[in-house]
Amino acid sequence: IQTQKIEALIGEMTLEEKIGQLQQRGPSLVGAFEVSFEELLDMMFDGRISQEEFGKLMSTAEQDFHEEELRAGKVGSYNGVGDARTANRLQKIAVDETRLGIPLLFGYDVIHGFRTVTPIPLAESCAWDPELWQRTARMSAEEATAAGIHMTFAPMVDVAKDARWGRVSEGAGEDTLLNGDYGAAKVQGFQGENLAKADAMVACLKHFAAYGAGEAGKDYNRVDMSLQRLWEEYLPAYKACIDAGARAVMPAFNDLNGVPCTVNEWLLRDVLRDEWGFEGITVSDANAIAECVNHGVAADRQAAAKEALQAGIDMDMTSNVYAENLAGLIQSGEIAEDLLDQAVYRILKLKAELGLFENPYRTDEEKEKHTLVRPEYRALAREAATKSMVLLKNEAVLPLNSQQKIAIFGELANDSGQMTGAWAIGARGEDCVSLVQALDAQGIDYAYHPGIVDGILAIAEINQLAETADVVIVAIGEQKEESGEAASKADISLPAIQLELAETLLRTGKPVVVVLFNGRPLAIPTIAEQVPAILEAWHPGIEAGNAILDILYGVVNPSAKLTTTFPHATGQCPLYYDHIATGRPGGKSKFTSKYLDTPLEPLYPFGYGLSYTTFTYSGLQVETAEDAVRLSVTVKNSGNREGEEIVQCYVQDKVAKRARPVKQLKAYQKVLLQPGESITMEFAVLFEKLGYYNQKMDYNLEAGEFTFFVGGNSRDTLSETIDLSFG
Ligand code: IFM
Repeated sequence: IQTQKIEALIGEMTLEEKIGQLQQRGPSLVGAFEVSFEELLDMMFDGRISQEEFGKLMSTAEQDFHEEELRAGKVGSYNGVGDARTANRLQKIAVDETRLGIPLLFGYDVIHGFRTVTPIPLAESCAWDPELWQRTARMSAEEATAAGIHMTFAPMVDVAKDARWGRVSEGAGEDTLLNGDYGAAKVQGFQGENLAKADAMVACLKHFAAYGAGEAGKDYNRVDMSLQRLWEEYLPAYKACIDAGARAVMPAFNDLNGVPCTVNEWLLRDVLRDEWGFEGITVSDANAIAECVNHGVAADRQAAAKEALQAGIDMDMTSNVYAENLAGLIQSGEIAEDLLDQAVYRILKLKAELGLFENPYRTDEEKEKHTLVRPEYRALAREAATKSMVLLKNEAVLPLNSQQKIAIFGELANDSGQMTGAWAIGARGEDCVSLVQALDAQGIDYAYHPGIVDGILAIAEINQLAETADVVIVAIGEQKEESGEAASKADISLPAIQLELAETLLRTGKPVVVVLFNGRPLAIPTIAEQVPAILEAWHPGIEAGNAILDILYGVVNPSAKLTTTFPHATGQCPLYYDHIATGRPGGKSKFTSKYLDTPLEPLYPFGYGLSYTTFTYSGLQVETAEDAVRLSVTVKNSGNREGEEIVQCYVQDKVAKRARPVKQLKAYQKVLLQPGESITMEFAVLFEKLGYYNQKMDYNLEAGEFTFFVGGNSRDTLSETIDLSFG
């Protein structure tokens, strides 16, 4: 419908109906007790119910959808309805039984797949592959929309430099450019070309802004940073998603330099709308408006409602603060009704863009049944998983061959439910393939033992089984609940018992392959030193087992590279490659920037990852042409297998008026090379990407020397320095 029609509709609405459009409800569970959506989330996060149970509860008919409120026109949207039957039933009430028949908008956390769960975002980012990111998002949208969902609370592009933060698993790692590219690809994939198509899903970009920079990696913690840093390192990733067309934005839980993002008018109006031209809707995070009272910036819930609407929050996710307070605030003249109308307008416009006024029922149960977990979706999940796994070490152990007898250890090798990772509420355990299930399905002979039984190492069984094998594989790492929201850690090393399991296996003298399942970088110095082969599998999604075997047996040559730095010890966090040059760069002498008890270098640097072949770099050339620096480099597959290499290009501004990062990623490309094949790769880095914000917050290009680095990771590079005048 057109602007005039929306305005006419708003003209017909009562105050209550307008406020209803801003109200996003989460279903409550009824029974012997009543649990709100937020409490339910808490129950999942603290382990009282599993993610799978959470998903089931969310999709059963036992929920209270507050239908009386819905009939009265007091609900505009739901969070967490993820099945076609319930969605259509509620939609029918909205369309047929409310006075104005305005359709509902259904939001859901489709973070890394809906039913066909793909690798966690941190893993998928290690593919450095925007085309893949877009394809998996498209698949998620096809599935989720078939289940009645209109909007996903994704992508998350919170640059995350601190491995202690549990939500590093939900974004694209520590780099700004990669987060922006990842987010933009996801937005395009989720939304497709036309929102009105039944399989298009609104992307709600989150968490605006700088949620990943919480102090000490603790979730929901304060974020205090210079505006220069905010604009250079954090905001560009969100901006890339807005430029890609994201139609919704979720402000972050945290405060930014003292002002909670939920009531941060500068962020939500000046930057997002006025400067970036965003015209979509803003949706608060769950209960975040009410939590402004806890932040101490609102005296009570009514003040929080007023501040949030004034700051520019359109939709209240599940805190009821708008529903309780806006009418009174408007009637008393404390808030102009026009402010409410603007929010209502934006929400109705989005519903119109989705085509909901013409076609409120974009799916049905039949369509849902035929769409979920299609074979081609499984194939894509497997492809994405193989492209996401990083080979961290390989001393001539991998790939395995089918003649070798293998023994497998570790509970994670046999726990399909763990494979999805955090934030996979649409997942079903029965869809997931563990390593052991994949071995069975592929008819590979193996011996398996969990290795740890009731918290105790089963030494006799381990030795007995290992003795019969040519190679032993051990699956260790984190349970899926150990990363994601509210899963920050003060220690990111592995539990002692898991290390003992690996050491026991090493003592057998058999070659050991460690397969790591985790949602964050881990501090694993002894494993890195002693184990001859390590595959970082992350939480790979429903095709976990098959994808791991593809890599272990060399059906697929690994190509992924880390998008997050691995430290030696938790105390090094935050550790990231693009740190600012200090006056005393870390070195051998005592009075330099370092820790006395850890090596200077990270355990594994940003951009690092091995292949079953090798690549050599030569002939780096750097020159200027018009408005860009142009680089060329020759990359050769110097091994004897076909392989893909991710070629990375970094820059350092050598002298500037503000200290600059020692290296910053500016471009990357993936290339497939046959054994012995060489290729000359070219990159262009626009001058405008080489500036920075000065002390007055002007973005300026400063002439002088710039060093360009090209290589297969952020540490091992060729480099050339060039004088740039930007003339
Ligand atoms: O999308 C999430 C967000 O990331 C954390 N709080 C709950 C939201 C909606 O479920």
